[in-house]
Amino acid sequence: MRKPVVLITGAGGEIGHGLITTITESGRQSVVTLDVNPLEPSLARMVQREFTGSILDTPLLERILSEFEVDTVFHLAALLSTRSEFTPTTAHQVNVEGTLHLLEFSQREAESHGRPVVFVYPSSIAAYGLPDLAAKAAAGRVLEEEYATPTTMYGCNKLYCEQLGRYYARHYKQLSAEPQAGRVDFRCVRFPGLISAITVPSGGTSDYAPEMIHAAAKGEPYACFVRPDTRIPFMAMPDGVAALLALASAPREALTRTAYNLGAFNPSAQEIYDVVRAAFPGAAITWKADVKRQGIVDSWPADVDDSAARRDWGFAPAYDFRRAFDEYLMPMIRDRYAKERR
Ligand SMILES: NC(=O)c1ccc[n+]([C@@H]2O[C@H](COP(=O)([O-])OP(=O)(O)OC[C@H]3O[C@@H](n4cnc5c(N)ncnc54)[C@H](O)[C@@H]3O)[C@@H](O)[C@H]2O)c1
Repeated sequence: MRKPVVLITGAGGEIGHGLITTITESGRQSVVTLDVNPLEPSLARMVQREFTGSILDTPLLERILSEFEVDTVFHLAALLSTRSEFTPTTAHQVNVEGTLHLLEFSQREAESHGRPVVFVYPSSIAAYGLPDLAAKAAAGRVLEEEYATPTTMYGCNKLYCEQLGRYYARHYKQLSAEPQAGRVDFRCVRFPGLISAITVPSGGTSDYAPEMIHAAAKGEPYACFVRPDTRIPFMAMPDGVAALLALASAPREALTRTAYNLGAFNPSAQEIYDVVRAAFPGAAITWKADVKRQGIVDSWPADVDDSAARRDWGFAPAYDFRRAFDEYLMPMIRDRYAKERR
């Protein structure tokens, strides 16, 4: 009998980096990956099998289907928010058609081994769209059902894929007589901006926070692309990875929603600047708002209500703003760039 494995798409990205490391270090499951770019050698060594190719390549997905019994999918591959605005139709292909391919893949895996395939999907605060700054200020901690009117291609893609996942989990083939034992067990989080000490992001619209921190640590100047008063929720990468794993292993009957808000802290850009300047007094940070990116971040909530995730599957981020900086970001980032300078 084939041994069940976890499939991670977009495994070479920021979240994939932490997820591969955490899953393989626990030793509980073998990991198979799929990414358009080859994995870094240190990650490639950890996985059972690495496939280099696109989630749009159906013959490649057929190959994985025939070779592996996949019982969990972390579907991370996507084009992020800023990048998607430059190439919206490509974004739709990768983010929506790609997700459809992975849902079909998972449905067929589930049918072939007669058990559900847990499908974990990272949606985003980009699924929200607040009409203006006054509404953003008045909205406070936004609930999952509120303001589901995204203003970007990426946000539309994410919101639709949440619904597509719900369809596969609850309604797929309900008109046919086929047995329903093998199903996609779709679970989804709406991530805030994630900040990693290990990787530097690209193509996202919350990137100003990690970019500011990494530039300061490298001793490089940085022009922040949003206003100082800009406020959205963030989370430290280890909490993001832990949340994906906690949601994946939660009992199905405990889950009352398809998509769960997650948050940990929500500093303004000015508050991030203040902490970064305190840690790196010489940091040359200036403000140069980019109209388009500013508009996107202004449409995202200043904070989210994540009480459903806390209640249903015990979401409890370890890092608040202070701890994220003092105990995770600063020590690891300093160490990382000091090693690079040696
Ligand atoms: N990082 C964040 O702050 C954040 C916040 C909310 C949601 N998310 C979501 O989490 C997921 C992972 O985010 P990330 O920060 O690791 O992104 P990332 O850009 O670092 O990684 C995405 C990975 O997907 C791969 N990829 C792109 N197109 C592909 C294709 N056609 N086929 C196969 N692989 C492809 C890329 O090569 C890359 O390695 C994405 O779905 C993203 O939308 C991230």
